[in-house]
Formats: sequence, C-alpha cells, structure tokens
Amino acid sequence: MNIAVGLSGGIAAYKVPELIRLLKNAGHEVRCAATAHALQFVGVATLETVSQNPLYTDLFASGGTEHIRLRDWADLLIVAPATANIIGKMASGIADDALSTLLLAMPTNRVVLAPAMNSQMWMHPAVQRNIATLRSWDVQIVGPCEGALACGSSGIGRMAEPADIAAAIASSDAPLAGQHWLVTAGPTYERIDAVRYIGNYSSGKMGYALAEALAEAGAEVVLVSGPTALTTHHPRIVCHRVESAQQMHTIATREFPQCQGAILAAAVADYRPEQCAPNKLKKQGTEGLTLHLVQNPDILATLGQMKTDSQTLVGFALETDNELANAQAKLTRKNLDYIVLNSLRDPGAGFSVDTNKVLLLGRTGRCLDLPLQSKREVARQIVATIALPNAPKP
Ligand code: CTP
Repeated sequence: MNIAVGLSGGIAAYKVPELIRLLKNAGHEVRCAATAHALQFVGVATLETVSQNPLYTDLFASGGTEHIRLRDWADLLIVAPATANIIGKMASGIADDALSTLLLAMPTNRVVLAPAMNSQMWMHPAVQRNIATLRSWDVQIVGPCEGALACGSSGIGRMAEPADIAAAIASSDAPLAGQHWLVTAGPTYERIDAVRYIGNYSSGKMGYALAEALAEAGAEVVLVSGPTALTTHHPRIVCHRVESAQQMHTIATREFPQCQGAILAAAVADYRPEQCAPNKLKKQGTEGLTLHLVQNPDILATLGQMKTDSQTLVGFALETDNELANAQAKLTRKNLDYIVLNSLRDPGAGFSVDTNKVLLLGRTGRCLDLPLQSKREVARQIVATIALPNAPKP
C-alpha cells in the first residue's frame, strides 16, 4: 500500500519514525506530512531518511497542489500522533496548513487517527463529540491507550504503540473491520455515603474478553467498564470507566446509535440508594439502618427499545432456577437478538474465575452450548457466532 503518515504536534511524534520503519518493513511505501508543531518534536531529516521520501510540510510548495497529488497517491492516511487540535480541525472541515488540507482532501474512510493527548483533554466533550463525528464518517480511530502520559500523570490518552498501529492497519481487512461495537463490563457501585457503596462480585473478565475478541476481529470497540482492576491495551478498544448504573446508562445510550451491535455483560445493580449522604453516615445508638432503594435504569432494555433492524443486541442472563425459560423470556422482553445464559451452578464458571460455561440462545432457540473453557475462548466463539458477517440473524 501507499501510506501517507501525517504528524501533528504531540510528544508522541518521537515514536513515529519507528512506525514508519515498521510500515516500510511490511512492504508499504511511505510519505510523510507534518505540521509546524510536529517538527518541534521530530526532525525533517529523520522523517525523510526513514520514509526515503521528501516531507510535505509547506502548503504552497510545488504550486500549492501537493495535497491533491499526495491524496491521489495514498491508499491510506495515518495521522499519528493526532492531537485534539487536528481532530477538531478534521471534524470541522478546517484546512489551514499542509496536513489539515490533506485531511480535507482525503476520503474519510481512508483515514486512520492515532490520538494522543492528556486524559482530561481526551474526555473533553468537544473532543468526544469530534471523535463521534469522525467515527460516523468511517474514520478509523486507533487508541488512545491507558498509561503514563507526558505531563507526568497517567490515564487514558497515550498514543497506541507503533506496533499496534501497524497491526491495526494490517488487520483492516479483518472480518469486523469498519464496524463499531459497544460492550459493558464489570459491576456497578451505587453510593450509600461518602465511603460506602452497594456492589457485586463481578470481575469484568467476561466483558473484557468479549471487547478483546471483537477488537481482534477488527471492530472498533467502546468498552464501558464499571469499577474493576482490569485494563486493556488493545488499540481498537476505547475504555470509558464509570462507577454507577446511571453513568453506564448515559454512555451506553450515547454510543449505541453509532454501533453495529452491543454486548451487555455488565452486572448492573438493579437498585441504588434513593439518597447518597454527602458525608460518612454515623451509627445511631443501637438502631438498625433502613436504606430506601430505587430502581436503576435498565440499560439493556433501553437499548432494546432504541435498536434498529440492522443492529445486533446481546444480553447476559444469570439465572438460578427455570434458567432456559427465564433467559428466553428476558430475550423477548428486552428485544434482544441473543442472550448468553451464564451458569452459576457449574464449578469454574461465573464471577471472578478465568473460565466460563455458557449457553447462547437466539430468538429461535439454542445457538451454542459451550463447555467449560477460558473466558477468552468463550468470547471468541460468541463473537464468531453473533458478529461475523456471514452469521445469520437468529
Ligand atoms: N442489565 C442492564 N441494566 C440493568 C440491569 C441489567 O443493562 N439495570 C443487563 C445486564 O448487563 C445483562 C442483562 O441485563 O446483560 C441481564 O441482567 P439480569 O440482572 O439477569 O436481568 P434483570 O433484567 O435484572 O432481570 P431479573 O432481575 O428479573 O433476573
């Protein structure tokens, strides 16, 4: 492939020569474009030497039409690092230098962005809105990942590693390439007071394994995770960490319309305390304590109502009795395409452990009866059944 690599002004620009080297080693032809700010972090000579091509940085060089020539030449444009600024320009159609003009000339489904910025900048509503816009135009977003950031803090915002960006491009012909999926995982915590909450034993392992299986199949995944110790570094997974069911509901309903499908594996608390005391509750003599609980929104049922015919919705069911009938009823009631029936009875299956044993039900009955095996393998088989292009709707 002919790949144009565009650099904008972030510290991660120092890693891009390595990305170019990986792309060249994989047999691609590379030409670079850079903003003036990018050249504060990496030198012209470095980029020209590793790409073995002249750098495009001046909009008015070669008569001012180089962006069109480069657009015609490139099969793909990777912007790495992609700062909040270049993301904002692309989402707004602003072309005021060589790179932003090349971006405006390029078909959006041939653009890959590897964002890199401070966590708060990444979570800013303007950046999130711009990313949502770009995704809806089929721009591929790789990362950002969680980890140490240039400002000394750590969190989401680190540019995906060069090897992962190169791998994301290599798998752009993967079965779910170009698709967007939503996954919920982990427990929710419902606050009682400043130091206490109502929670559950979910570890998040099944949901994270599903997010990774979808990403490995080429999908861009939005993972909405309740509190868990797990992390994921897959460059095609964007992880939103939340605490409560209401926060999970807000993000899931915001993201679902842009997705081909959703798998809701989170163990969402059905109830929350009506009031959360701002300070720590003190013991009142020898009296007991009565908490008044109110119902949380049912995220799965909400998405079931929002669902269009082209979207696939998958829920989980944890049942203790009348398992099959209850799961089938839940599938119908919440307007799902599939439901994964989790077994709590089998040793080695359920919360916290690394293995699971599940039954996958579609609208017309059983689709998969998986023996006890790793959650990673269970996830792969579920994804292969529900998401791959040739998988018939049940
Ligand atoms: N779920 C959800 N939001 C909730 C409750 C559950 O999205 N507030 C989702 C879970 O992620 C799971 C599915 O619904 O995919 C099943 O949850 P479960 O607790 O088994 O079902 P309920 O609807 O709560 O039914 P019941 O308590 O009657 O079993």
